Amino acid sequence: MQNSSIERLLKLPERTFFLFGPRGIGKSTWLRQTLPKAAFFDLLDAALYLQLFRNPHDLEALAGDQAAGSWIVLDEIQKVPALLDEVHRLLETRRWRFALCGSSARTLRRGGVNLLGGRALTRFMAPFSQRELGADFDADFSLQWGLLPLVQVDRQYAADLLQAYVHTYIKEEISEEGLVRRLPPFLRFLEVAGLLNGQVVNGQNIARDAAIPRSSVDGYFSILQDTLLGHFLPSYRPQLKVREKARPKFYWFDAGVARAAAGLAYDPPDRLWLGAALETLVYHELRVYNHVYNKHRPIAFYRTPAGAEIDFVIETRKRTASSPPHVACLEIKLAEKWNRGWERPMRALHKVEGIEVERMIGVYTGGRAYHYDGLDVWPLEEFLRRLYEGEVF
Ligand SMILES: Nc1ncnc2c1ncn2[C@@H]1O[C@H](COP(=O)(O)OP(=O)(O)OP(=O)(O)O)[C@@H](O)[C@H]1O
Ligand SMILES: [Mg+2]
Repeated sequence: MQNSSIERLLKLPERTFFLFGPRGIGKSTWLRQTLPKAAFFDLLDAALYLQLFRNPHDLEALAGDQAAGSWIVLDEIQKVPALLDEVHRLLETRRWRFALCGSSARTLRRGGVNLLGGRALTRFMAPFSQRELGADFDADFSLQWGLLPLVQVDRQYAADLLQAYVHTYIKEEISEEGLVRRLPPFLRFLEVAGLLNGQVVNGQNIARDAAIPRSSVDGYFSILQDTLLGHFLPSYRPQLKVREKARPKFYWFDAGVARAAAGLAYDPPDRLWLGAALETLVYHELRVYNHVYNKHRPIAFYRTPAGAEIDFVIETRKRTASSPPHVACLEIKLAEKWNRGWERPMRALHKVEGIEVERMIGVYTGGRAYHYDGLDVWPLEEFLRRLYEGEVF
């Protein structure tokens, strides 16, 4: 990569916030660059950790004589959840602003602390987006290895870095924070979950394949979700009446991490795998755009009554008493040539009464854009450019 420092899309909030995100995605780097003048407390520093663990009260003295409105950064806050009571107090008495950074809210909540009772905003950080990488974005590389900053800045070691990521970071995070009672069943689950990246979740099959009790599966998935390692994509139900609950799909936050979790870091991926990696990448970009640009639109997949699928359905306007739901549909294909048969599920949804399909977009890995009868087909990078220009939702 040419650039040594990539500018992130995330904007600094004006008030106290939590910053959550998986390991190695650039949280600390962003905080140091965005708040260069802040008093910075890194709880990975063993001496500092011990001091504040024993005496959270020392924080005020360590921060020194800061004016109201000054920024204080507490990195790895999950290591000393008790500090949040201190933060709470200092928010009121000193009127300082805090950036509170950690890998997830789960361990904080487990510590029994209240997350400042709504006084703090919550921001999330994800791996690099295509928008951030700009000219350094390499679609082929990113489908194979994902978008972790750690990996993107050191591309020649991608396989080793991802292997280490799963083996060290994830394991440490999960066992150190005491998120599971026993590690071996969880590790078997991780491998199975890696293999089914982008698929509809079937708890029973997963339990069987990983040789774990069915009752552990949901808890394990919620660990992945809470630590922001994966996300459920719900099934879109246009008719509110429909009772039957369709199963969600599960996507890892990063295709490279999914690959290493599946134990495939050193095996060349096949086309089926790369197809799921492409969906994973698009879903990641949709979530980044949704969060950074404050859209907060619900995203789902859709299975037509005939059993065909639309990869992503984004609700651009909620159903109300006076108007139908409005949606944008995306069909994602790893293919050099666009096959017009792939448009069918989107066109079928378009005909369903009571849903306003505002956009139908095909995304593929070919080189040309097309427009057919109300439907756009865009090469991946053109799609991503238009997404960030607000043309999709
Ligand atoms: N904006 C950036 N530009 C270029 N490289 C970056 C950027 N952000 C992060 N990196 C690279 O990724 C690595 C991990 O970043 P960083 O330590 O900030 O992540 P983190 O989210 O704080 O991880 P952890 O949870 O482990 O503390 C850095 O060492 C750096 O090599
Ligand atoms: Mg960090």
